Amino acid sequence: MRKKIVAGNWKMNTTVPEGVALAEAVVEKSAQVPEGVGLVIATPFTHLVPVAGVVKGTRVQLSAENCADKEKGAYTGEVSAAMLASAGCEYTILGHSERRQYYGETDAILVEKVKLALANGLDVIYCVGENLDQREAGKHFEVVTAQIENVLFGLTAEEMAKIVVAYEPVWAIGTGKTATAEQAQEIHACIRKVLAGKFGAQVADDTTILYGGSCKPSNAKELFACPDIDGGLIGGAALKADDFIQIALSF
Ligand code: PGA
Repeated sequence: MRKKIVAGNWKMNTTVPEGVALAEAVVEKSAQVPEGVGLVIATPFTHLVPVAGVVKGTRVQLSAENCADKEKGAYTGEVSAAMLASAGCEYTILGHSERRQYYGETDAILVEKVKLALANGLDVIYCVGENLDQREAGKHFEVVTAQIENVLFGLTAEEMAKIVVAYEPVWAIGTGKTATAEQAQEIHACIRKVLAGKFGAQVADDTTILYGGSCKPSNAKELFACPDIDGGLIGGAALKADDFIQIALSF
């Protein structure tokens, strides 16, 4: 049985004290959420060490939002996967559309990042998703399939067990426009089929696939009721502990 997960992606929001307070509120409210639902919070780099102290020994798991594509050395301003693991992270998000769009992350770069994250014991929340033009041109299946093939097809089945896929249509991120449950389900089913073709039915069946893009308490239930949607990657609504927990109660 694959894991259900609700992961908060804080992006570039909150100061360190605000982030610590938000993490404390999430931990405090996490008891309401059934044990079978994994809770992950992805914070800015500056917040990881203090937030690791807050979540230590609780059910809330810590994630970074990105990591470097190089192991270590003269790469000013970068943060390596080894550093993230040593800071207390269990996950990192990789390939978020904002990284692809604003920071030029290509699938080739992401291959390196995924490799380094896994080598350092991190699980990866790997994001895929089409933009509005691609959706309107009917290319969404093709775009998402290529993002999966280009970055994940070099992995072994064992490595694939450490990957959570997040489908986030770019046109739905932070826009208030959510994909309909049908639109999300058909892409999730496609992703699972693509994974089955490469890694076999069992691996595909065991892979957690999250939906992201304006997911909130009012629409999470309908999305999470879909057979191939195993939870959410939550941006804006993860900045309020009550909303985040409410979403985690939507299975
Ligand atoms: P949103 O962001 O929930 O604010 O749309 C989701 C994401 O980008 O991970």
